[in-house]
Amino acid sequence: MSIEIPEGLTELLQSFTVEVLRNQPRDLLEFALQYFTQLKENEARAAAFGNEQHPALRAGKAVNFIEEAMQIDSENGEDEDDDEEFVAPVINRFIRRPSVCAEAFNPDEDEEDKEPRVTYPKTDEQRQRLQEACKDILLFKNLDQEQMSQVLDAMFEKTVSTGEHIIDQDDDGDNFYVIERGTFDILVKSEGTTRTVGSYDNRGSFGELALMYNTPRAATIVATSPGALWCLDRLTFRRIIVKNNAKKRKMYEAFIETLPLLTSLEVSERMKVVDVLSSKVYNDGEQIIAQGDLADCFYIVESGEVRITMKRNRLKTDSEHDEMDIATCTRGQYFGELALVTNKPRAASAYAVENVKCLVMDVQAFERLLGPCMDIMKRNIANYEEQLVTLFGSQMEIEESSA
Ligand code: CMP
Ligand code: CMP
Repeated sequence: MSIEIPEGLTELLQSFTVEVLRNQPRDLLEFALQYFTQLKENEARAAAFGNEQHPALRAGKAVNFIEEAMQIDSENGEDEDDDEEFVAPVINRFIRRPSVCAEAFNPDEDEEDKEPRVTYPKTDEQRQRLQEACKDILLFKNLDQEQMSQVLDAMFEKTVSTGEHIIDQDDDGDNFYVIERGTFDILVKSEGTTRTVGSYDNRGSFGELALMYNTPRAATIVATSPGALWCLDRLTFRRIIVKNNAKKRKMYEAFIETLPLLTSLEVSERMKVVDVLSSKVYNDGEQIIAQGDLADCFYIVESGEVRITMKRNRLKTDSEHDEMDIATCTRGQYFGELALVTNKPRAASAYAVENVKCLVMDVQAFERLLGPCMDIMKRNIANYEEQLVTLFGSQMEIEESSA
């Protein structure tokens, strides 16, 4: 006798089991009752939003992004149900997106604004951890308060174990990930061989490329320790981050075109650079880079002046008085590349002179996007030594003569 397994049963039970393991309910039957009731309600709500044709909504099928919300708010909030205490966990949030429709990259279209908003309720403790994990994420830096709060609402937590593949190269993109804790390797396969091209150590984010450009995943990300991630679904990412990037492109297009460093890049590559840059403001005297620190960013001065200083004697303690000015960077110039190129700690410190605005890029984007600019950088690095010999040499003479 052969028994046919109904379509969707495995996913349904798998997702339910995952939620039970995550929530550890005391009353399993009650949890199940509420889980499936809420799931049904979400399905009805999603259908009311006009998604009944969506294949993922067919009976028994895993819920797709639209219903991934534990709570789905309409734009005007009419559908809000404040009395709802329990919110059904997402049924398939850890199941990979089966296929991405090949929509063109056109963030100017308002289409995605019509999607219902996604909200995962969080405890105060969770929200605090999430805010801490997101505070240095460059892609979030240019968001206004409302956009940021929508992003935080939509994020959900995922714990991972050693060896787990968070992303597999060539898959479709489902989520963007922010690391709360844990270490991860970045593997890229090319011409039949797989290389580890980098890693993340308890901070940072990944998975933006496939969502930004509607391309297959460009790398495999594997957990090398137990860890925790915050995930942002593809639709919310596109609705907020990609839209914001379109504005950023308009803002920085002209400036980027003038940067000598980027002349070897194609126009489309220069735009990709803009997509990953974020603008950061520093107040007068604020330290941007500390000599000896590990490096994770690269900077281009947008406005103002940056003072580069170096300790004259590395053995001395770090009082600023022991530091010597060695260079200044103004609009269009860059700094903070040396440590990324040499894989060494920061060779000098950098301070804002009055108010300074910098464009900042993270190390992974730097390595991925600025390969073709390496020749220009290397030429510049060659000048550093000359600069130091001149400066430190003359200072030595002054010290000797005053002794
Ligand atoms: P995505 O292509 O969506 O999924 C894999 C992610 O790995 C990619 O987005 C980037 O966020 C991240 N990544 C980090 N370094 C690299 C690299 N050198 N090449 C490609 N992707 C990388
Ligand atoms: P990094 O070492 O990453 O951080 C400090 C930065 O100061 C360094 O990269 C360079 O971009 C910049 N810098 C400017 N002049 C010098 C110099 N003479 N030696 C080293 N770094 C310099």
